[in-house]
Amino acid sequence: MSPAALTPEPTFQVRPVIKRKDQKFNFGAIVEGLDLNNISDDDVKNLKDTIWTHKVIIVKGQKDLTPQKHWELVTRFDPAASQVHSHGSIKTFQAKGGLLSKSRDVYGIPGAENVRLIGKGYQGDDHYGLKNVTVKGLSNNFHADPPNEDEFQQGFTRFQRWHIDAPLYARDPAWFTTLRAVKLPSGPDVTIRWDDGSGLSMQSPPGLTAFFSTSQLYGLLSAEEQQLVDHSWVEYAPHPYMWIENCKAPSNGLGLKSEGKEHTIEELGDYDERAIKRYPCAWINPVTGEKAFQVHGLAVRKLFLRSSVDEQPKVVEDVNEIRAFILDIQSRILRPEYIWLPEVGEGDIVMWDNYGTFHSAVDYPLEKYGPRTMHQANIGASRGPVGPVPIPSVS
Ligand SMILES: [Fe+2]
Repeated sequence: MSPAALTPEPTFQVRPVIKRKDQKFNFGAIVEGLDLNNISDDDVKNLKDTIWTHKVIIVKGQKDLTPQKHWELVTRFDPAASQVHSHGSIKTFQAKGGLLSKSRDVYGIPGAENVRLIGKGYQGDDHYGLKNVTVKGLSNNFHADPPNEDEFQQGFTRFQRWHIDAPLYARDPAWFTTLRAVKLPSGPDVTIRWDDGSGLSMQSPPGLTAFFSTSQLYGLLSAEEQQLVDHSWVEYAPHPYMWIENCKAPSNGLGLKSEGKEHTIEELGDYDERAIKRYPCAWINPVTGEKAFQVHGLAVRKLFLRSSVDEQPKVVEDVNEIRAFILDIQSRILRPEYIWLPEVGEGDIVMWDNYGTFHSAVDYPLEKYGPRTMHQANIGASRGPVGPVPIPSVS
């Protein structure tokens, strides 16, 4: 009997995204016919496989999903995981989140603290028990050269920061992130500009999240590069987001400018050597078997390059060289045709495979479009990424 035969067919419908002629991204699906407040174990398993297969899905119509049931679903995706958000408690996140928690507010929903309220603007007098909260939200201040404020107010914006949701220290990255749109800004499309000299731009409704597939990126590499990526690995810094808390991004939001602003390791204070993460450069999708070039370039402190298991790796410790290597690969996919901004409505929930995609928020002017309210939850995985070959143990 095949494993598929063990799980009954899904009771929900999965439709691939309909793309325009100029769109080349190869992921994405719309899921209908589910009530996430009341989902069977079989459908949890089917939904999980759907995320791994399609990488980014929109589950329609979850207006009534309670934060408690939202978190419960996340834990059911990975029952062996510790019952905590991948970035830890709100307290840990505020203390050690560095670049991630600095200049942004994140609130836990009372009674379901692992479901995080993120967004922008005034959230109402009582949002699931959070009283009179105004969320500062993400902004374009992560860019070394931020966009012109007048143009921003007119709706010209940027990709905020391309990333995966991954602590990269202590806990393993969540397999999936779930993001429910509770309230969305409204108004004319914003224009997302690369502002990197390429002249590239794309239009999008305000308040959406952008995605590209890192397995599609892997497929763009030459056979030689794939061989290299298959056998290479990276080591992330201890407290990686503290390490780079003063660093800024290039205008397209991909990678970091190397301006010597990283902390020294001594400045980071105590850390646990065993909590440092070393991950392969290629991560294998457990359902489709695809490989993804999944390297969070912001936080890599050492790069180990080799093209076969017998080769002695070349160790790269210069951040300029490390970032140049990663960016040379990743920038190939940072083009409008490879990017999808799933068009959610209020009540829809986006779920993505964090092991095969990168995503970015896109800021918008609050005054013109109004507040944004999202519920985000993920869980530090019970099993971290698996590469094509094991990483040698560190001496
Ligand atoms: Fe994220």
